[in-house]
Amino acid sequence: MNPLLPYEAVIQTRRQETAETFTLTLAFRDPLRQQEYRFIPGQFNMVGIPGVGEAPFSLSSEPWRRGSFDHTIRVAGAVTSALAYLKEGEVVGVRGPYGRPWPLEEGRGRDLLIAAGGLGLAPLRPVLEATLKERGSYGEVTVLYGGRAPQALLFGEDRERWERSGSIQILLTVDRPEGEWPHHIGVVTELVPRVRFRPEETVALLCGPEVMIRFTALELLKRRVSPDRIFVSLERHMRCAVGQCGHCLLGAIFVC
Ligand code: FES
Repeated sequence: MNPLLPYEAVIQTRRQETAETFTLTLAFRDPLRQQEYRFIPGQFNMVGIPGVGEAPFSLSSEPWRRGSFDHTIRVAGAVTSALAYLKEGEVVGVRGPYGRPWPLEEGRGRDLLIAAGGLGLAPLRPVLEATLKERGSYGEVTVLYGGRAPQALLFGEDRERWERSGSIQILLTVDRPEGEWPHHIGVVTELVPRVRFRPEETVALLCGPEVMIRFTALELLKRRVSPDRIFVSLERHMRCAVGQCGHCLLGAIFVC
């Protein structure tokens, strides 16, 4: 199978998550392609519309689901705006999966500290689902999640379910609370001192705005989490997605 070749995928459902964010559930038109498709939490697909363009989107569905897969998308440019107008039954081009997965193996037997801002929870959703499925393999699992306002936070039902499991602790924060807001007000970084974890036995996964990633990582370093156990997910414009075109370069690093 040519990794650079897009395959037709049909929109099964479209769910509005927040005012600016929606989730597309897709399935490859070719049932065999869909049956064989696998991804690991943290990977992404290139999704394209002919005549508009192509962009990278993280996978936000459970990694073991076979009949379809999800992308949670925020309207931010030409491709995302065009995707926002598509309806169930319409077709997009999908190639992937690409990218380095989150190091879940590294987290086994250790505490997992997951920090996300805004849309950054989308690529971490598969991690939380996978963790919940094998909950006994990890120590404390804590999620620090923040956004601009309560209505901008993603996956309310999932967060309730994760909390109801009694095995994942979730701390929320927003910049601008509305109505009664029983959680923290401020930035994600401010949640770090409120969490109890074993720094020497913690793996941290960070995703969100780069300023949030930078300051959360600094806070974790202050708490003596080892730098080689702090993992971040970055976003860049991409073309090939397979380390060949250099379009995604950040210094000497291929972000794809
Ligand atoms: S997108 Fe082409 S090298 Fe990364």
